[in-house]
Amino acid sequence: MRPMVKDSVAYAKEAGLDASRLPTHVAIIMDGNGRWAQAQGKHRLMGHNQGYLALKETVYAAQDLGLHCITVFCFSTENWRRSHEEVGGLMQLLVYAMRTEIEELMLRNIRVVVSGRLQELPDDVHNEFLHAARMTENNDSLIFNLAINYGGRAEVVDSVRALAELVQAGKLEPDEIDEKLIGSHLYCPGLPDPDLLIRTAGEMRLSNFLLWETAYSEIYVTSTCWPDFNEHHLVEALKEYQMRTRKFGAVVP
Ligand code: FPP
Repeated sequence: MRPMVKDSVAYAKEAGLDASRLPTHVAIIMDGNGRWAQAQGKHRLMGHNQGYLALKETVYAAQDLGLHCITVFCFSTENWRRSHEEVGGLMQLLVYAMRTEIEELMLRNIRVVVSGRLQELPDDVHNEFLHAARMTENNDSLIFNLAINYGGRAEVVDSVRALAELVQAGKLEPDEIDEKLIGSHLYCPGLPDPDLLIRTAGEMRLSNFLLWETAYSEIYVTSTCWPDFNEHHLVEALKEYQMRTRKFGAVVP
């Protein structure tokens, strides 16, 4: 087990970061598992297995560095279009990873939350993640949000549908609907918007990830494929983030 770092301020400083200007929430599109595997003549699922190890290192490094929340794109509403074998392998990996990690997540006081249409997942996956979320709900260190069967458009549709039902029931007036209300009916309403969005494997697109929440996120794209991503790459992304000027539409003198 990787030893837990107690003093994240000192740890961040040692890594060359300004601990007072770290992002609160980092979101990651973990892309390139398939390419990484195929480049080595391996099965795509080997890329996902290695991707799990990269995720483990990244999440624990994020906590050691003092981040408050990390959201990762594990399976999209569009990923069902992949082969039966790949989808099945990914579902098995999700269950295996959560069963394997739950003890360390508890020891590290990490809270697991899940975003997506969970009710459409196979029962074992659905149950495993609900169990992890319940078991860790009182943990108050890093929030680890896994986006599974997640789509940014589906998330907005689900929020608007919930509001439409309130209107239909006479509990809400249409002109009371505003950004705050739509935001408060997204999958994880308590989480702050991501400050930084990292995408691996070089593609310059959002791929239907956190469309609402990333309105003002800083975007960092690296050509490194996800299975090769590690703590060093995370620190590089955080350094780049610390050089950005965030304006949120305003003019900064
Ligand atoms: C994108 O790479 C990655 C995914 C669709 C799955 C992400 C899953 C993991 C990192 C596995 C570990 C996760 C957990 C929670 C155990 P891709 O297959 O689209 O790569 P490609 O674009 O090179 O084909």
